[in-house]
Amino acid sequence: MTDWKRLASGLALALAATACATGPDATIGQSSDGASKMQDGKAVAHPDIWPAYEYPVVLPKSDTTMVADLVARMTLEEKIGQLVQADLCCVTPEDAKKYNLGSILVGGNSGPNGNDLSPAPDWLAAADAFYNASVDKSDGGVGIPIIWGVDAVHGHANIIGATVFPHNIGLGAMRDPDLIEQIGAVTAKEIRVTGQEWTFAPTVAVPQDFRWGRAYEGYSSNPELVASYVGAMVRGLQGPPSNNDILAGPHVIASTKHFLADGGTDGGVDQGDSSVTEEELRDVHGAPYGPAIGEGVATVMVSFSSWQGKKMTGNKSLVTGVLKDRMDFGGFVVSDWNAHGQVEGCTNESCPQALMAGVDMYMAPDTWKPIYTDLLKRARSGEIPMARIDDAVTRILDVKARLGLFHAGKPSDRLLAGDYDQLGSPEHRGVAREAVRKSLVLLKNQGVLPLKPGGRLLVAGDGANDLARQSGGWTISWQGTGIDNSHFPGATSIWTGLEDAVEAAGGSAQLSPDGSFTQRPDAAVVVFGETPYAEFQGDRATLALDPELTGPYETMRKLKAQGIPVIALMLTGRPLYANPALNSADAFVVAWLPGSEGEGVADVLVGDASGTPRFDFTGKLPAAWPRTADMKDGALFDYGYGLTYASPSRAWSALPELDTSQLAGDSRLWFSAGAPAARWSLLVNGQNTGEQTRVTTVPVEALGGRVRVTAENFIVQEGARRISIDNGTASVALRNFEPVDIAKETNADILLLATMKVWDAPDSAMLGSIGPDSEGFSSVKLPEGNRWVRYGIPLKCLRNKGADVSELTEPFVLTTTGKTDYAIGEVRLGTDAEVILPCS
Ligand code: BGC
Ligand code: BGC
Repeated sequence: MTDWKRLASGLALALAATACATGPDATIGQSSDGASKMQDGKAVAHPDIWPAYEYPVVLPKSDTTMVADLVARMTLEEKIGQLVQADLCCVTPEDAKKYNLGSILVGGNSGPNGNDLSPAPDWLAAADAFYNASVDKSDGGVGIPIIWGVDAVHGHANIIGATVFPHNIGLGAMRDPDLIEQIGAVTAKEIRVTGQEWTFAPTVAVPQDFRWGRAYEGYSSNPELVASYVGAMVRGLQGPPSNNDILAGPHVIASTKHFLADGGTDGGVDQGDSSVTEEELRDVHGAPYGPAIGEGVATVMVSFSSWQGKKMTGNKSLVTGVLKDRMDFGGFVVSDWNAHGQVEGCTNESCPQALMAGVDMYMAPDTWKPIYTDLLKRARSGEIPMARIDDAVTRILDVKARLGLFHAGKPSDRLLAGDYDQLGSPEHRGVAREAVRKSLVLLKNQGVLPLKPGGRLLVAGDGANDLARQSGGWTISWQGTGIDNSHFPGATSIWTGLEDAVEAAGGSAQLSPDGSFTQRPDAAVVVFGETPYAEFQGDRATLALDPELTGPYETMRKLKAQGIPVIALMLTGRPLYANPALNSADAFVVAWLPGSEGEGVADVLVGDASGTPRFDFTGKLPAAWPRTADMKDGALFDYGYGLTYASPSRAWSALPELDTSQLAGDSRLWFSAGAPAARWSLLVNGQNTGEQTRVTTVPVEALGGRVRVTAENFIVQEGARRISIDNGTASVALRNFEPVDIAKETNADILLLATMKVWDAPDSAMLGSIGPDSEGFSSVKLPEGNRWVRYGIPLKCLRNKGADVSELTEPFVLTTTGKTDYAIGEVRLGTDAEVILPCS
């Protein structure tokens, strides 16, 4: 935590102590000062400090009358159904009809027909199927048309062939609200092609700690910059606030998210707690919501995270008091993916607290039925007041009326529907290409850029010809993994863009990921950086690249040593310590996560045949660039930094290079939330050396198909890895590049803990640790059971069995024989085992 943050949390405590209404809202049933004020529906977190706004959307009288009439005629069951949103994974059109569901969504990993990779026409067909079911009045109901929400967060990027825009962090570098509006408009059009009405965008987070895995979803760390974009994006998506027939034009409804302070969690922990003061909550994280409301944003999504220990999804004083009352937000509030289950006193299946706090629609992907049943029961008993239900339903129906949904007809009959040429059309790609150009930030240029015409260019680095990598998370799949260039028809990789531009300028280009060459190049571009991730899977302990991604630094050094001018081109969702590249390369360009139009990079790097730049660099850093991996020494380049071709050249003095492998986060947590900790790898090893698979994405097969690794839920979605072994011997290991020393822990009677669930027990199992020169294993029993068990084995046991605990490269190895099926949720050191495995 930086010092100013610590200071801020100190202030927060002081503030909370003096102003009792400031703190997080009380849960329903409690009668604190805040809660009683809230009962008259007026409560705000701290009334005097939140600015008042006016929601500009005014529905025509005919619409408000229609909605009031509907609400008057709806049964309680129909009303409750409107409050619930189900994921396509787990709902059928029949369900939507039977339960009068208000909405469906596709999460990052879902798609029509259970296929995340479904082609565009299947999406439109599914939209029709759900719509038709929802308006079917044959059961005597009112038949409210359903709406479908999708994470079109950088273009309609769930869809194969759509235009993929740079992620928001790159757009932040552009400082161009007009282009933001165009991006919103293009995104809306492409969504309409496949029949959806609603995007869960824009993310208006103001990330303060870039270790956060979602930092790239925010435009900038600067609230003013974010605020200057939000209105433009909302307008691009929805049209102006006066647009009361949204579906009649090429538009959709937007959702600003995640309210509030998703980008302000302590330590940048996703879904974590923000301890900032109320002033900072308002001035930094709240800043974008004013302009969003000013533009009539139709929906707001509540954050998974908490403020001062209270989950936002249950925070009435902020959701109702601030957002709805003080800021006059007149649309509806949707919760996040089962986020209600994290509210104090709630489960995924039951959480009236969310509705009472002001959530109008529950995102209950796979839990919609129990949520529906529970809400209905509590509404019948009178525990949930009818007024709150009617208010929520009215808000949802008002938005549907504003969409023009009641007269728009089925999705395939609407404007742009089925017009597949619009997906990734040349015009749309042109807008994305312009955004790529404008988002590039030049941090260093010792006279090598623009590239000289007519020369031979080497394009190196494993990211150079990889569209998934240049697109990042939330692209086709949730994590942006498991896909390759074949899933991006019509797109241009950075390599292809460079090749075309270099050839057009009379030169030649060669792609060589490892940097080797036969004919000496005149210059080399080395593309390096992060690989795709989304949400908590992207959380990191430090601002360093994962060690396995630093190989290109060596490539740069080698090329440089041969006197070849090197241009480092970084793909990244956040500013990261990259001093080795800054030192060895002659030029350094940050490309962020540019998306499908890689030629935008070449537009700026490669001049015309006469060597004149075709476009200059205009991008400026949307957040400070770190000098060290822990930000302790402050910024290397400040917010707003960025060179142009006209910038005077300057002498470069070498920056300190750190051994980033030494920078540990929680050094005792080796595997959690579906991923090994920074610096760790998850491996599947066979009996023979060389038989090894490093698990980075799932599903994946290992050992010639004998082993399959898939995702399993544990605490969070996909929070565990499931290992299904057909037969034979197989080991699952956690490996660190640098040997770890756990001698201290061993002496202190610490255990090696592994939380596991076993569906099919192995014939035999051994648990142990391996070092360069030692190993120690104990045989263990892992009985079958349908629950997670936290097993622990004393480190002393492994030492007694022969492991050199001061030097271990694979401190966790589980070797099994025979048909086996189990999952690992967490591996760490600690003392709190549920079952201690005897040493044998
Ligand atoms: C994310 C949201 C997203 C939703 C639906 C959640 O996990 O936090 O940003 O809109 O899933 O996919
Ligand atoms: C979904 C995402 C969602 C996440 C929440 C995933 O399975 O595909 O859309 O955001 O779960 O944790």
